[in-house]
Amino acid sequence: MNSYSTMSLNSLNLFFLFSLITFLLISSTTNAQNPTFLYQVCSENDTTTSTYKSNLRTLFSSLSSNATKEFYNTTVTSRTASNTVYGLYLCRGDVSSSGCQQCVTNATQKLSTDCSSSKRAVIWYDECMVRYSNNSFFSTVATSPAIFLMNTVNITNQASFMRLLFDTMNESADKAANSSVGAKKYATNEASISSFQTLYCLAQCTDDLSQQDCSTCLSDVIGALPQCCNGKQGGRVLVPSCNIRYELYPFYRNLTPSPSPQPSAAPGLVPPITNPNLGGSSGISSGTIVAIVVPISVAMLLFIVGLCFLSKRLRKKKRDSAQDPKTETDISTVESLRFDLSTLEEATNKFSEANKLGEGGFGVVYKGSLPSGQEIAVKRLSKNSGQGGEQFKNEVELVAQLQHRNLATLLGFCLEGEEKILVYEYAANKSLDYILFDPEKQRLLDWTRRYKIIGGVARGIKYLHEDSRVKIIHRDLKASNVLLDGDMNPKISDFGMAKLFGVDQTQGNTSRIVGTYGYMSPEYAMHGEFSIKSDVYSFGVLVMEIISGKKNSSFYETGVAEDLVCYAWKLWKNGTPLELVDQTVTESYTPNEAIRCIHIGLLCVQEDPEDRPTMATVVLMLDSFSVTLPVPKQPAFFLHSGSVPNMPTIQISQSESTTN
Ligand SMILES: *[C@@H]1O[C@H](CO)[C@@H](O)[C@H](O)[C@H]1NC(C)=O
Ligand SMILES: *[C@@H]1O[C@H](CO)[C@@H](O)[C@H](O)[C@H]1NC(C)=O
Ligand SMILES: *[C@@H]1O[C@H](CO)[C@@H](O)[C@H](O)[C@H]1NC(C)=O
Ligand SMILES: *[C@@H]1O[C@H](CO)[C@@H](O)[C@H](O)[C@H]1NC(C)=O
Ligand SMILES: *[C@@H]1O[C@H](CO)[C@@H](O)[C@H](O)[C@H]1NC(C)=O
Ligand SMILES: *[C@@H]1O[C@H](CO)[C@@H](O)[C@H](O)[C@H]1NC(C)=O
Ligand SMILES: *[C@@H]1O[C@H](CO)[C@@H](O)[C@H](O)[C@H]1NC(C)=O
Ligand SMILES: *[C@@H]1O[C@H](CO)[C@@H](O)[C@H](O)[C@H]1NC(C)=O
Repeated sequence: MNSYSTMSLNSLNLFFLFSLITFLLISSTTNAQNPTFLYQVCSENDTTTSTYKSNLRTLFSSLSSNATKEFYNTTVTSRTASNTVYGLYLCRGDVSSSGCQQCVTNATQKLSTDCSSSKRAVIWYDECMVRYSNNSFFSTVATSPAIFLMNTVNITNQASFMRLLFDTMNESADKAANSSVGAKKYATNEASISSFQTLYCLAQCTDDLSQQDCSTCLSDVIGALPQCCNGKQGGRVLVPSCNIRYELYPFYRNLTPSPSPQPSAAPGLVPPITNPNLGGSSGISSGTIVAIVVPISVAMLLFIVGLCFLSKRLRKKKRDSAQDPKTETDISTVESLRFDLSTLEEATNKFSEANKLGEGGFGVVYKGSLPSGQEIAVKRLSKNSGQGGEQFKNEVELVAQLQHRNLATLLGFCLEGEEKILVYEYAANKSLDYILFDPEKQRLLDWTRRYKIIGGVARGIKYLHEDSRVKIIHRDLKASNVLLDGDMNPKISDFGMAKLFGVDQTQGNTSRIVGTYGYMSPEYAMHGEFSIKSDVYSFGVLVMEIISGKKNSSFYETGVAEDLVCYAWKLWKNGTPLELVDQTVTESYTPNEAIRCIHIGLLCVQEDPEDRPTMATVVLMLDSFSVTLPVPKQPAFFLHSGSVPNMPTIQISQSESTTN
């Protein structure tokens, strides 16, 4: 049973959605999340009359049609008092009114199928709770049945954690119980455990309880925490009259966000909603979201229509020129990129060993210098590449159009006889692996430079994935494919190579796996399935290497861990992620930045591609510290090595019975 883990994810998604309104404009269509079912208890062996059943149906429709605020109680009576049904619902204090409505609707639907012949029932969702009975239960405390849910991951320092948990939870309970008359009895509270871990607590009572009763109910459930969730990273206690929950990640929306300074958002992004005026007591209304999303969607739409129109015209032009052979302009773009073989032979001293810079996946790279004095890197492709000359030229033209600060600039090509050669601008500091894994040279990369390299590589990949005219999956991102110029600015090279070799670039399967072991995502390594998320995985590995100054594969023999990713995860779980940081930068580094990079790196190497962020999200996470990151789950490797899966699971106990 892993319903707890899916639950956590959903609420996280929800949190993400509202705190970011992820610039993914598509997200406007996904803002109605399905409510997450947790547990239900229906009374047994009842003899219900048909009148009772019909009253129950009326109750359900009355509850769901009135679910516009967070609490509502109602009574359905008929002539015989014994058929009276009492019912209420309670939505979590931060759930929007549409979310509340949806949850109550689902809950009553589920009750009417599962518990239709029960006189009493209670059902819990992540977002709401619905309860009914033949006995009047309003304004009385019920702490039975009690449901315990816990995250099975252990916390490291249990004793001090439980103390902090009690204090923080008691404060939430006080705030919830003491809320002013008529307001919802709901409160959240946060406490910092360490510089990189925060405890998030939530407490809520049904609105019909008095302050005293709410306080009693909450202190009962807080008292059950040691039985429920001792030493665990997350947990909840649910009883009919109140509930509490805690996690090490934010699972609720802040209704009154503190106005934190916003680092300059990347262009084109909708700023996170932190304006208190938007909040109000019921959170962000869907009206607000529509108001923000609509103008941007309209602008986007116009932009896209414009683009389509333009590209159509371009294509038409291309087709025309193909029919009407050799239009001047088209040839000149390709031909301006052409180098003579003799020029390149001269530049590289006839491809001499002395000029050899390295050997890549697709051929040998030489350093050269043109008569003008410009230094170049010449990549002589292996002869057995499966592509015709025409196709090669087309691809070169395409790759040459990709222009970005963090991409190596393709200067041109050479196509003569069997020779296929690519000419790049020369990077003075060679490649990242050359500097990073060299015990002496790695000192050149202090923390600031490493942090900039991480950001630069992220932006370069994002450009390939999203911003260039065609979508390009790199498929072989690794340290040796990140070139460094004279100022240590990263330049990604070898992008578009897969296509140059005639492999279909769109998402799908390939029988031919390119890529470098250790950087390959599991789905790619095992099934040859690739997507932009395979690049995200490789990026995650690269981030770990940059931070630690160690190769991913260098761990095989040490016995400490299987690989770097595995080691990083172990440290993260122990609460000591900073031990990953390279000794040579311990003086220059900023703990916050390092922790955030490790966190992002771990998110990138998640087993399920869906759990990995897009590069656009990664760039956003790096740029803005106000963006909350989801909690990483165990990365891919562990599951393959057969160690104990560590996923949050559900544990249920119904034994608690205090009052009724
Ligand atoms: C319900 O009835 C069944 C048999 O009819 C019995 O075995 C069970 O114990 C009863 N449950 C309760 C809660 O009374
Ligand atoms: C609740 O819904 C019922 C219809 O199902 C309606 O008759 C009643 O007026 C509503 N009550 C409130 C307070 O809106
Ligand atoms: C709702 O509960 C209050 C007690 O908290 C009670 O006085 C009131 O009558 C209830 N409303 C309905 C419609 O039953
Ligand atoms: C509600 O149902 C229970 C169990 O069937 C019964 O014992 C109780 O008397 C009922 N309450 C009312 C107010 O009818
Ligand atoms: C909730 O209701 C919606 C719409 O009726 C439905 O699509 C969805 O599957 C339901 N979810 C659950 C968990 O019952
Ligand atoms: C968590 O701690 C309990 C005892 O406190 C232990 O039995 C259990 O194996 C631990 N679980 C993990 C995953 O470390
Ligand atoms: C809440 O009310 C109780 C009882 O009136 C009081 O002891 C406590 O200090 C109050 N807490 C807050 C936070 O106001
Ligand atoms: C918090 O609540 C628990 C259980 O009700 C109680 O034992 C403990 O003393 C309280 N702690 C504080 C600091 O109020």
